[in-house]
Amino acid sequence: MRVGILGSGLMGGKLGTIFARAGLEVVFSYARSEQKLKKLARDAAGKARPGTPREAAQEADAVLLAVHWSRIDDALKQAGDLSGKVIVTCCLPMDAGNTKLIIGSNSSGAEELAKRVPKARVVCAFNTVPNEVLFSVFEARSKKPRPSLVYCGDDERVKGVAAELIRDAGFDPVDAGPLRIARYTEPFALLIGQLAYDGEGGPELAYRFERFG
Ligand SMILES: NC(=O)c1ccc[n+]([C@@H]2O[C@H](COP(=O)([O-])OP(=O)(O)OC[C@H]3O[C@@H](n4cnc5c(N)ncnc54)[C@H](OP(=O)(O)O)[C@@H]3O)[C@@H](O)[C@H]2O)c1
Repeated sequence: MRVGILGSGLMGGKLGTIFARAGLEVVFSYARSEQKLKKLARDAAGKARPGTPREAAQEADAVLLAVHWSRIDDALKQAGDLSGKVIVTCCLPMDAGNTKLIIGSNSSGAEELAKRVPKARVVCAFNTVPNEVLFSVFEARSKKPRPSLVYCGDDERVKGVAAELIRDAGFDPVDAGPLRIARYTEPFALLIGQLAYDGEGGPELAYRFERFG
């Protein structure tokens, strides 16, 4: 699978590195310095390379959108025509200071994103874990049980792509339903953030759902 990373910061940089180490083809794009993209590609040490947002998106089977909410329009514009593309978004619709969600209850960032790129297929994933835990989860991928990771979307084929990426990253994918369920997963991500950054034990936090009976 070819994955275009649109936003190569904490989330995009780490997930892109993990995907490359899992054997996927990765193009890192959308950072403020080309040097950073080159270094990410070099350090990932797999089939990874730096590129423009357009290159990252046009050749990709899946585009990981990982920018601050305020950069969404710019990143999408730089990516060019996204018709038919699978967009995996981990973006949370946060205010400028990252203190609160600015969309919620009767919509979600993922749904608003889908409206902005109506010809693309949006699936919401990776937004409910802190970046700090990603490498540890990947390194522990052979151990069972794996931590859960919820995802949601309206297109079954596209959700299959997201589930594959989630498995590649070392998590157990949990299908939470249609894209509108991002109304629940986005605030849930803030709970995880609260526990990770203000709770005891530090930010390397993942979660696991278990059914009894
Ligand atoms: N951080 C987390 O643990 C976490 C967890 C769950 C969800 N999320 C969500 O995931 C998304 C990404 O978060 P993040 O923490 O990865 O953000 P981040 O570290 O700030 O990364 C954003 C990327 O966008 C790039 N960028 C920003 N302004 C730009 C500009 N003007 N031109 C070109 N590139 C620009 C940054 O460039 P530089 O690399 O040069 O800074 C960086 O590569 C957000 O929507 C966030 O809410 C984050």
